[in-house]
Amino acid sequence: MRICRTKKEFEDCRTQMDSDGSIALVPTMGALHQGHLQLAEQARNEYEQVVMTIFVNPLQFGEGEDYESYPRAEEADIEKARAAGVDVLWIPGVEDIYPREPEVTLQVGNMSDRLCGRHRPGHFDGVATVVMKFLQLVRPDAAYFGRKDGQQLAILTRMCEDLHMNVTVVGGETVREEDGLALSSRNVFLSEKERAEAPKIYEGLKMGVEQCRLQEADARDVEHDVTTWLSEQLSASIEYVELVTYPSLEPVATNDTDDQLILAVAVRYPKARLIDNIIFARS
Ligand code: PAJ
Repeated sequence: MRICRTKKEFEDCRTQMDSDGSIALVPTMGALHQGHLQLAEQARNEYEQVVMTIFVNPLQFGEGEDYESYPRAEEADIEKARAAGVDVLWIPGVEDIYPREPEVTLQVGNMSDRLCGRHRPGHFDGVATVVMKFLQLVRPDAAYFGRKDGQQLAILTRMCEDLHMNVTVVGGETVREEDGLALSSRNVFLSEKERAEAPKIYEGLKMGVEQCRLQEADARDVEHDVTTWLSEQLSASIEYVELVTYPSLEPVATNDTDDQLILAVAVRYPKARLIDNIIFARS
């Protein structure tokens, strides 16, 4: 595995990759866990060369969010990426990606008005902008993103369509702990008690999905019932529970072109904001 740091180093490396076949990109913010590694392994099986980026993107963190304290674990990440079969690991500095204050950035429309976007203004503009930069620099045939961040996957897929990017966007399944908690770099910030109750998030989602299937339930009722149940089970504050269509992320009643729904949740613990979702077929 080659490790690149500066933009120049990566560009030199990228030139050599031209003769070695197809390229898949797995963008990450590091503190790698099996969720990231499964994306890399899937990419490895489907394309000839895998580029993984590790970059904690300041543009996608709002004021008062955890940019400074976001977990960084470079040495361990290098070993994990190597073991997962990554060919090129690029760990740029902020000055490589943002050499000066950006004047032109991407702006996401209505798809960022809901779910996480509503609670993190500007977040998806920052995600779209940095992912576009990596797509331009890496020029991959495919880019891999996890369904764990369902709204992010939907927005980035739409970005690539809207901007005529010649890249296949691939979604990977959510990787969970045995007790159901979705793996996240932020799970390390949970206390023992918080960690013990956190699997209830996924349980609540599964109950909500069951409710949708059984009774043709109204979206507002499902959101309300899951919120009530979760607030009884968790010491966290519930930021949102939302049921919308997938991948357009529109209110259920007004969109009949999407054949899937997403039930998504975000909760806030004192040191970690956790998200999870289930994407399922509309009955
Ligand atoms: P990060 O949170 O590091 O996640 C990198 C990729 O791993 C994302 O596509 C995310 O959806 C996926 N992922 C995280 N946890 C997962 C899990 N438990 N199962 C499956 N996939 C999982 O998402 C970002 O970074 C950033 O926003 C990024 C896209 C890199 C742009 O900065």
